[in-house]
Amino acid sequence: MGTDSGGRRGPALVERRCATRALVDGVERVAFAGCDYLGLAQHPDVRAGAVAALERYGASSGASRETSGTTPLHLALEEALAEWLGTEAALVVEDGYIADLAVARGLARGAERVFVDAEAHASLHDAARLSGLELRAYDGDHLSRLHALLDRSRAEAHTDDAALVMTDGVFTNSGRLASAQELVRMLPTADSTLVVDDSHALGVLGPRGRGTLGVFGLTDERAVITGSLAKALGAAGGVIAGSADRIARVRRNGAPYVASTALNPASAGAARAAVGVLEREPGRLERLTANTGALHRMARRLGLVPRGTFLPILRLVVPPEREAEGPPGAALAALAAGLAAAGVYAPVIHYPGSPSAGQLRVTVCSEHTDADLSRLEAALGEHLTPPIAAG
Ligand SMILES: Cc1ncc(COP(=O)(O)O)c(C=O)c1O
Repeated sequence: MGTDSGGRRGPALVERRCATRALVDGVERVAFAGCDYLGLAQHPDVRAGAVAALERYGASSGASRETSGTTPLHLALEEALAEWLGTEAALVVEDGYIADLAVARGLARGAERVFVDAEAHASLHDAARLSGLELRAYDGDHLSRLHALLDRSRAEAHTDDAALVMTDGVFTNSGRLASAQELVRMLPTADSTLVVDDSHALGVLGPRGRGTLGVFGLTDERAVITGSLAKALGAAGGVIAGSADRIARVRRNGAPYVASTALNPASAGAARAAVGVLEREPGRLERLTANTGALHRMARRLGLVPRGTFLPILRLVVPPEREAEGPPGAALAALAAGLAAAGVYAPVIHYPGSPSAGQLRVTVCSEHTDADLSRLEAALGEHLTPPIAAG
């Protein structure tokens, strides 16, 4: 694959992959990439769930559920997700991005302003813009400022209008965990809502992998969870989970949900099966937690200081203050090439919110063995050079 006009290489060609191995650019490597955190994308039950749904319902859902009817499969998936996440209701949509857009449109009515963490995923920033509400970004490291913003907003509006506050549960670019409890406490009115995009924490953090709210033991009808079913669940689709009233409002007013074709049957079948596997195989979450700890301990042995250690992700970057030492993109590309030569696949990614030179993202999953991790450590030990640091 060639380079684009910015000199960046296009995505690597991945012809085959399972949780820990990938055939990349024609060579089989140990893969430390992607978000299949529990190795479920190739789980036999998840694949069988997809195939059975495809056979029964066909390749497409054909239309919006609100116009043309729903299937028992979509309802069963929503029931299973609500049970897992401990919420009154859940709604499935085509993907995690649409989940954020739909919730913002669905809950905007009656609200005056939307507050979004400046470091939040692009889908939340787009959702906040789409809500049509007056938008304020806040610094999640300094919540006292959000508090002041909320106070000022009430004083200026001279009303008790509801607010929407939107945050990632855990931020992949910094590893920071959102202070969900604090954020809920700050909501100005009973019909205000905290939207937590927990795409990276679902299946990964908290008891039963319930995510960020599970970490804090937080159940509050003002908190709504959104997430992608394409990460730890190994399927595809998006979920919005929360109180029955808020889910009903998204169902009525959330145009990105109402006016688009329902999640395709194969993905719904895969996701339904994956929720079952989570329950039946708790050892996967235990192994993921162990490998996450091993990854961050390895980083420290290599002289790195990882910023946030909640996620199974190690971010390697050229810090802005050291960019003058040479083209930062070249340093990361050289590291990726060194790792590839050592049989390890960990890509340089360019993602909204990451440094312009990108970041080399190393991800472990539950299925990596001690031998895989030792291989990663040896390869990083050989090829990691200053000015690259943990991001
Ligand atoms: C935090 C977050 N939200 C939303 C999404 C979008 O999810 P999906 O890929 O299912 O559209 C992603 C995916 O990368 C994500 O990381």
